[in-house]
Amino acid sequence: MKRYALASLTAICLASGLGYVHAQTDQSRRMSNAWLLDAPNDTERFRLLQRYLRGFDQPMWEVGERYQKLYDALKLENYDMALYQWDKIKVTIQSGYLKRPARKANADAFLLDQNWAVVDAAFKSRNKAKAWDGFELARNSCMSCHEAEKVAFMNNQPLFHDTVPPAKR
Ligand code: HEC
Repeated sequence: MKRYALASLTAICLASGLGYVHAQTDQSRRMSNAWLLDAPNDTERFRLLQRYLRGFDQPMWEVGERYQKLYDALKLENYDMALYQWDKIKVTIQSGYLKRPARKANADAFLLDQNWAVVDAAFKSRNKAKAWDGFELARNSCMSCHEAEKVAFMNNQPLFHDTVPPAKR
């Protein structure tokens, strides 16, 4: 009887000891900066990366920045910069619908299928009036897609209010 009690006591101590070690590993994993390498397997790593890379909002944020730079470039008549930003806007929107394929149909219809090339040609003309006409088409395409995608509230922000082509002010 005595031996039995001693054996169970040892078992309890061992079990709680192991529990302690386990908890400690969990704790150090939570505290580690190696958020990918510490994941148990590649599936979990891809899941973490997928979450980290977000959806359509983050590319749109970048598109917004580049759109503002594009506007500034046209004011300075810096057409090389305008063309550069316009190119990056296309790439960024394409990367956006890589992640959110449901946005592709409208992105192509409103911007990439036809209007993108028209705007590109307008900047390539390096003619001030033509370039601003191109910008106006770009701005309208952005805003129309926001309406079609049911995020029309995006159009009511300084980014769009402050980028009306100069001749239209
Ligand atoms: C697919 C059609 C589509 C096109 C084309 C489009 N957008 Fe968007 N935009 C969206 C959607 C959808 C959202 C909201 C994203 C979300 O809810 O995750 C958005 C959000 C935004 C945001 C807010 C980002 C944030 O999180 O603060 C900005 C800025 C923006 N768009 C700028 C632009 C500009 C500038 C253009 C044109 C160069 C443009 N968009 C073209 C669909 C579009």
